[in-house]
Amino acid sequence: MKKTIRDFDLNNKRVIIRVDYNVPIKDGIITDDNRILASIPTINYALENGAKIILMSHLGRIKTEEDKETNSLNIVASRLSKILNREVVFSDMTHGPELEDSINNLSQGDILLMENTRFEDLDGKKESSNDPELGKYWATLGDIFINDAFGTCHRAHASNVGIASHLPSGIGFLVEKEINNLSVLNNPDRPFTVIMGGAKVADKIGVIENLVTKADYILVGGGMAYTFLKAKGLPIGKSLLDEENIDFCKKMLKEYSNKIILPIDSVNGKDISDEIVSECNIQDMKDDDIGLDIGHSTVELFKQYLEQSKTIIWNGPVGYSEIEAFSTGTKELCEILKNLDATKIIGGGDTAAAVINFGYSEYMTHISTGGGASLEYLEGKILPGIDIISDK
Ligand code: 3PG
Repeated sequence: MKKTIRDFDLNNKRVIIRVDYNVPIKDGIITDDNRILASIPTINYALENGAKIILMSHLGRIKTEEDKETNSLNIVASRLSKILNREVVFSDMTHGPELEDSINNLSQGDILLMENTRFEDLDGKKESSNDPELGKYWATLGDIFINDAFGTCHRAHASNVGIASHLPSGIGFLVEKEINNLSVLNNPDRPFTVIMGGAKVADKIGVIENLVTKADYILVGGGMAYTFLKAKGLPIGKSLLDEENIDFCKKMLKEYSNKIILPIDSVNGKDISDEIVSECNIQDMKDDDIGLDIGHSTVELFKQYLEQSKTIIWNGPVGYSEIEAFSTGTKELCEILKNLDATKIIGGGDTAAAVINFGYSEYMTHISTGGGASLEYLEGKILPGIDIISDK
């Protein structure tokens, strides 16, 4: 068990909270503030316990001076201030006397958000390469470090692993909640079913290898299903094919033939425009069909497995769900999950976006805020941002 924010006396302490405010921004507007909302319980707890709060986060990737213009956290400070209904001091510096003065001026209950930690990447990738001096310096700005940036826990950067190496450290409520929910895979109520989707087999090899040994069933959809179907000798037309991983799929199908359930029909387009050309059984796919969603018979097939499941983990949409015409399979699976009395865990990234956009969040047990981080967790990898925190 890792130390948590509850294990520290925060009264009158400078508490650095690493949050993940890497939120999507379009034309200067935050289009999804779920990650900001997810940080509120930890911030509120720190406020209630008399801390002086210093928030740190990255936003985007900073490679040039121009990147700084579109990736300032200033806009996040305003949104956070609105959500909390209190002032959030924004420091546009990531080091130096101005930042230090602003922190020294904080009183109990004050909140400061520091500018994007990755601005330090322009100076020799200091943040992203976990420059030891930078982590040490940032640690001098606080008394306690709380890592609540689940989405960044798969990175070993100066603003998480670096700072935690120099300060008493714990995890926040979001990281705690993510670990508690994602760890169901280690001791699931059974049957335990995984829905696997997404475009490429290559991106999911680690997850498949890890989960195939733990799950009772793996229902495969999305672009990656067509490589599995090809490996079975079925026609897939011009659908996405991950040539290099056909052998991997063959091996999985041979070893786990009773666990891996593939689509039996496909919704096809001619290109990636919003137009369905046909829906057919897999064996009837034509040479120029591009499979972009699972068909109705597959939804019914998957439903039979899902309805008996007690634990479900969903990683990856089962069709090209950003395009209306090819979002039906993913929406129908949301609808099936909605009515199930099971533990339903949704991986971050595209799956979370689909479930949230289609209006099904409230029916899920947990929707992860981490894309890469939840993927690596499901792969069974150790996440350095969590690993560095001491045990109780
Ligand atoms: C994410 O959005 O997955 C995290 O914030 C990590 O971002 P990164 O992939 O740029 O490190």
